[in-house]
Amino acid sequence: MWGGRFEGGPAAVMREINASISVDKRLWKEDIAASRAHAAMLGRKGILSEADAKAIDEGLTAVGLEIDEGKLVEDPALEDIHMHVEHRLSQMIGDAAGRLHTARSRNDQVATDFKLFVRNCVDEAVEGIDALEQALLNRAEEHAGSVMPGFTHLQSGQPVTLGHHLLAYREMLVRDRSRFIDARARMNESPLGSAALAGTGFDLDRAETARALGFDRPTANSLDAVSDRDFVVDYLHAAALCSVHLSRLAEEIIMWASQPFSFLKLPDAWSTGSSIMPNKRNPDAAELVRGHSARIVGDLVSLLVLLKGLPLAYAKDLQDDKPPLFDAYDLLSLSLAAMAGMVADVIFVPERMRSVAAAGHATATDLADWLVSDADVPFREAHHISGRAVAAAEAAGKALDELSLEELRAVDSRIDERVLPRLSVEASVASRRSAGGTAPDRVKGAIAAARAQIAAR
Ligand code: ARG
Repeated sequence: MWGGRFEGGPAAVMREINASISVDKRLWKEDIAASRAHAAMLGRKGILSEADAKAIDEGLTAVGLEIDEGKLVEDPALEDIHMHVEHRLSQMIGDAAGRLHTARSRNDQVATDFKLFVRNCVDEAVEGIDALEQALLNRAEEHAGSVMPGFTHLQSGQPVTLGHHLLAYREMLVRDRSRFIDARARMNESPLGSAALAGTGFDLDRAETARALGFDRPTANSLDAVSDRDFVVDYLHAAALCSVHLSRLAEEIIMWASQPFSFLKLPDAWSTGSSIMPNKRNPDAAELVRGHSARIVGDLVSLLVLLKGLPLAYAKDLQDDKPPLFDAYDLLSLSLAAMAGMVADVIFVPERMRSVAAAGHATATDLADWLVSDADVPFREAHHISGRAVAAAEAAGKALDELSLEELRAVDSRIDERVLPRLSVEASVASRRSAGGTAPDRVKGAIAAARAQIAAR
């Protein structure tokens, strides 16, 4: 394909280090689509004869069918997917195949193919997020009023509702979704026609190939177009952050399934056993989601470091852009699907959550708030009084809401009977009605708003 000026062939190791077919064969569909668009445009511009353009188009379709049937014959001497497709095309249609590469280089070809591939990864990530979002909304609706402990420092802080807790993850995913969509809009420019680095002397119609491939427009600078991999970084950044969010949720599932928490039970479908301990029910899928996020973050870092020292324009280092992208894409797809399945299927144990929520004197802030709103005590002083009430409860071996009115009044005489109904965990969450708060009716409102938002997408 390029041997004109060479006398000897490459060393075996040269061939081995250079070949990327085992990895970039995943771009075959995109390669054929981009080549068909290019050939059709060359035909329309009269750069290729009508007969050649037609033969190339039909040949490429036939090559695609063959590869789809698993009949790609990998040959390291043919380096990459672009050469494999062209080589097979030449076997099928003969000399006309040699005209396909007119006004094109593998540099704009690979940038175009890879963009098409990454654009599809973005679309699939959005679909995966949407499915997980639905699962979260459904479970949040079911548990809009289920009380659980809310934590800071992993210490019981104030009671919240499970629905509210699940909706927090929904918010993260909505931001992840918008990051993917931003990335898609930014990447959607066609490099095709930038050729090796400088553009070409042929009278191409770059707008036509851009349109045919679903791009918004051609890229503006040929040097940038063949060496830009921002779009991969954008995808990987969105993927890495999304996977970090999934990892946090996975961590909570793992923790909540553990015996000391017992906030949820993992159904058989999402559990694995132990080969030695017959009692075990392990959360492997959640642990792997947590583990995969490490790899996806690594993939992002790989790409950033790959690009860091590269002079313009193309260098072969850029061939190493594919393994991190494919790895992140595969892992994120699996992680999103596994999380959607787990969220839909886990068996929450709201009685257990409620009893833990009630155990940590978690309504001490409510007592302080009542002193402020109903007894006109400054908050700092109210905080101190409530702290003494917690100490009194602890000394009496009771929960704060089990103290009698007399016991509370012994702490501070400004406390009266109106406070008693305010100290249950249900009353506490019901009172948190500020916008974005955990009150069950706020949670129901948030779910309705989310569903309206989704319907308007
Ligand atoms: N396989 C190469 C890649 O993935 C295609 C571009 C090759 N270009 C070149 N000038 N050797 O980056």
